[in-house]
Amino acid sequence: MTVSARGTDPDAPIETPMPALPTTVAETKARLAAGGYLASEALATSVYLALTLERPLLLEGEAGVGKTEIAKVLAAILARPLVRLQCYEGLGLAEAAYEWNYARQLLHIRAAQAAGSGLSVADLERDIYAEGYLVERPLLKALRLAAAGTPPVLLIDELDRADEPFEAFLLELLGDCQMTVPELGTISAGRPPITILTSNRTREVHDAVRRRCFYHWVDFPGARREAAILKLKVPEAAPELTRQVVAFVQALRSMDLYKNPGLAETINWAQALTSLDCVALDPARVDATLGTLLKYQDDIARIRGSEAARLLEEVRSKARAAEFAAEAG
Ligand SMILES: Nc1ncnc2c1ncn2[C@@H]1O[C@H](COP(=O)(O)OP(=O)(O)OP(=O)(O)O)[C@@H](O)[C@H]1O
Ligand SMILES: [Mg+2]
Repeated sequence: MTVSARGTDPDAPIETPMPALPTTVAETKARLAAGGYLASEALATSVYLALTLERPLLLEGEAGVGKTEIAKVLAAILARPLVRLQCYEGLGLAEAAYEWNYARQLLHIRAAQAAGSGLSVADLERDIYAEGYLVERPLLKALRLAAAGTPPVLLIDELDRADEPFEAFLLELLGDCQMTVPELGTISAGRPPITILTSNRTREVHDAVRRRCFYHWVDFPGARREAAILKLKVPEAAPELTRQVVAFVQALRSMDLYKNPGLAETINWAQALTSLDCVALDPARVDATLGTLLKYQDDIARIRGSEAARLLEEVRSKARAAEFAAEAG
């Protein structure tokens, strides 16, 4: 049986005017940038293809590189609702997709009995296993919105935190844009939600999920893009400070630390330094603010002091060399 997925409100609008999807990679990149997200050419291409071919996009990458942010920005620039499913150990169907409203079902049965309706058990079962008795959770909500003509952005965040069997629940939704509720039938939507899945690779996501998605590895940005992102996110930072912060963080990422700083940390560091009225890095300020950048004591102990001073000197001499080359050229 296939049932309508318009939700419980029959008067819900079917069509809501929404901005059209981008028609080129360049337009995708420009609209993301207008929404505050500076994507690499490769990521903009993956997003464009996922939007155009209506396929889920699986994003993997280190912490803080912008995996979750892209779903938020897509929802904003395309004027779609954002439906977010945060995954965690023990996440099940009842929290992710739907749950029967047992209290309401029981009340219905009691009311029918009290009224002496004489309904058979089969009639009662048919009554209480109707869509109105479903409590919707993010996956069902996304499907219903899509069926109502407003395909949302569905963010399935940190899928690697959920237990492996949970992924099996997703296959029908990712592959066929539908969900089967055994007591009710199959709920389907014509146009799929714009689906973004993220993983930090604390475990491998199953092949069956990967096959149903496009895939993109979100890398740390290069110095130029990181500087542009800082300018956008911390415009109050002094230009010299922005340059030095980016060069310092880029150097840190080549040092085989236990946890490399992500973009979120770069932004936090620049904000912290700016709020301390820093206009350029100095060894004392670097040491005092390392906790906004590095989150493990082993990494902090390794960098603090002489190593930070050495990195800072390296950053300054590279900047001097670049200035000299620019003047000479
Ligand atoms: N390309 C980008 N353009 C602009 N801002 C970005 C970009 N990438 C990341 N950011 C900024 O970095 C912050 C961290 O990004 P986000 O939370 O999406 O990282 P993540 O990859 O989901 O991290 P985690 O794995 O820890 O959840 C965001 O709040 C956003 O401000
Ligand atoms: Mg995230």
